[in-house]
Amino acid sequence: MESETKILVIGALGQVGSELVETLREKHGIDNVVASDIRKPDHVVGPFEVLDVMDAEAIKQIVLKHNIKHVYNLAALLSATAEKNPEFAWKLNMEGHFNVLNLAKEGIIDRIFWPSSIAVFGPTTPLDNTPQDCIMDPSTVYGISKLAGERWNQYYFEKYGVDVRSIRYPGLVGYKSLPGGGTTDYAVDIFHQAVKQGRYTCFLNSDTKLPMIYSGDAIRATIEIMEAPKENIKVRSSYNLAGMSFDPAELASAIQKQMPEFEMAYEPDFRQGIAASWPNCIDDSAARNDWNWNPAYDTNSLVEVMLENLRQPA
Ligand code: SER
Repeated sequence: MESETKILVIGALGQVGSELVETLREKHGIDNVVASDIRKPDHVVGPFEVLDVMDAEAIKQIVLKHNIKHVYNLAALLSATAEKNPEFAWKLNMEGHFNVLNLAKEGIIDRIFWPSSIAVFGPTTPLDNTPQDCIMDPSTVYGISKLAGERWNQYYFEKYGVDVRSIRYPGLVGYKSLPGGGTTDYAVDIFHQAVKQGRYTCFLNSDTKLPMIYSGDAIRATIEIMEAPKENIKVRSSYNLAGMSFDPAELASAIQKQMPEFEMAYEPDFRQGIAASWPNCIDDSAARNDWNWNPAYDTNSLVEVMLENLRQPA
């Protein structure tokens, strides 16, 4: 990528944003990556702007001020939180997306990353090896907003030539940041509780298999798709992306291999219904073919890296 390209990350304090900003800054220099979020963090490192993604004019002013050319828009309510406030979730997830798409349509920025999710799939989607193109009937407001956003990506690309790139993230599991209100959050919480208390009560059933990815792999995919040559990006709605798949019982036994005393209990809540409508595993051959996607972590290496980093040093 061009060395002087300035980058804006919206939603920089979230699960993806915090790790993405760190990685982009290591790669492109602190001053070339402006972080922004709805609130100021306690400790500000590098360029930071307080920004409400629903304020189109404010985004434009920040983009012009820093001469931003690439925007990663990560501001959204996730699946479980969105169900508690559907109207606001729709407004935030869609208006924010339009505000950034329109800056590219006006020619002010020239590339956008916008995350979609496995939540775009639904109960009548083929749930094993879910194809890139298939029936999509999301049952959550989060999934509906992501599917609509994907269609707008395609529309803005075809009608206005907007260079928007997108990935359908599986559940993200990492030790550097905490998830904020998703259905896949258990797969992060479990490690924190395993290390703290040696046990975990899961809000999904033991056999609810979902696609997951190590956050380091997800960040790498995000940067790789953004830095791929334009002509390689053949899917403009959003790419399926796979890392690994497991159900809570499989994750628990992978943890028990390293912590034999670890105990798991199950108390499913409303998130079980959401998880049941999502795929078990994903076919990501389009991402592999078009921009050489290849995950590095499987379930066992994920467990290793999580426990190694969350365990207190002796
Ligand atoms: N991890 C997200 C969620 O559970 C899915 O994109 O909401």
